[in-house]
Amino acid sequence: MRIYFDNAATTAIDPEVFNEVVSVMKDYYGNPSSIHSHGREVRTVIEKARKTVARLLSVSPSEIFFTSGGTEADNMAIQRSIIDRGVTHVISSPLEHHAVLHTLEEMQRLGKIELILLKVDSKGNVDLEELDTLLLHYPNSLVSLMHANNEIGTMIDLARAAEICSRHNVLFHSDTVQTMGHYQHDLSKIKVDFITCAAHKFHGPKGVGFIYINHNTKIKPLLYGGSQERNMRGGTENVYGIVGLAKAMEVAYSALAEHHAYIQDIKSYMMEQIKLHFPGCDFNGETDPDRSLYTVLNVSFPPMEMSDMLLFNLDIAGISASGGSACSSGSNIGSHVLTAIGCDPNRPSVRFSFSKYNTKREVDLVIQKLRDLLAEKLN
Ligand SMILES: Cc1ncc(COP(=O)(O)O)c(C=O)c1O
Repeated sequence: MRIYFDNAATTAIDPEVFNEVVSVMKDYYGNPSSIHSHGREVRTVIEKARKTVARLLSVSPSEIFFTSGGTEADNMAIQRSIIDRGVTHVISSPLEHHAVLHTLEEMQRLGKIELILLKVDSKGNVDLEELDTLLLHYPNSLVSLMHANNEIGTMIDLARAAEICSRHNVLFHSDTVQTMGHYQHDLSKIKVDFITCAAHKFHGPKGVGFIYINHNTKIKPLLYGGSQERNMRGGTENVYGIVGLAKAMEVAYSALAEHHAYIQDIKSYMMEQIKLHFPGCDFNGETDPDRSLYTVLNVSFPPMEMSDMLLFNLDIAGISASGGSACSSGSNIGSHVLTAIGCDPNRPSVRFSFSKYNTKREVDLVIQKLRDLLAEKLN
């Protein structure tokens, strides 16, 4: 039996999404930019998908632009805000995904911005008071803060961050890749300029996502080419991906509360079992369920011989999870997130991340395997 506890990396496709994608693949092959009937029918399929996404976020379809995924969407928000909106400073955090951090570092290297990273505490909470104070000094800022961290699950108070940015009249981008399809995003209540999505994080296809751009926030395309996406993203649309994305959103939001409760229960059970069987273990990131992604549990194991073999041994046992430890030196490429929250580089960490397809029985099997492995390693 194989166990997949790596759902923050990507998720299995939902059968309903699969069926929808396949039926469009079979029957629709026109180019949506063509004006003949074959093209027009595909255009209709794309616009229907855009409407579905917009309805679920309480925004206008004209504010949704399909992309190749989260990375492209994050790049578009950041690079084009800097180029088109006179941004001189970007305030972000050291915990952002590389799609954000590496883009910002490159913008700084090119001399286009000064990058300021907010302080974070040992659980990965960013200091929003500091943001409020900094914005007094940097009126031409873009603020970029992820809604939930993909490694440790810590979440920001999105409404509060948005309120602070709006009060200071600065641009606000939030990477919502880990929360889209998992939490309600009612953008009629929260004022953000940009949020981003990747369909593969909630049982949709890989290689497709979107950026929401508030209609008051004018930027130019990141990718120039044809007039697709209302002149905002050149390139023939990933029709099947877009259809799959919208279907995955529909499926996810039709049972959001139910899946939230089900997956949270699996996570809480695994936390209990770990505390019970491995007193030397700890959790990285926020553990308060109101401020922690219910899909992610990052476990810090005691220092042990051959710690890098832990994930390998889990893999041999048919258990897929993700690893990471803090950098112990500048030359060692560990997790920038664990390093930023001050984790001990000698303690191996494993991220277990769950979906609606997991069960408590799988947790029991993983705990049993860990007991065997740790008994060998710690003795
Ligand atoms: C928080 C976050 N942002 C951005 C991305 C990048 O998304 P994509 O793989 O669709 O480019 C990921 C995916 O790992 C992510 O977890």
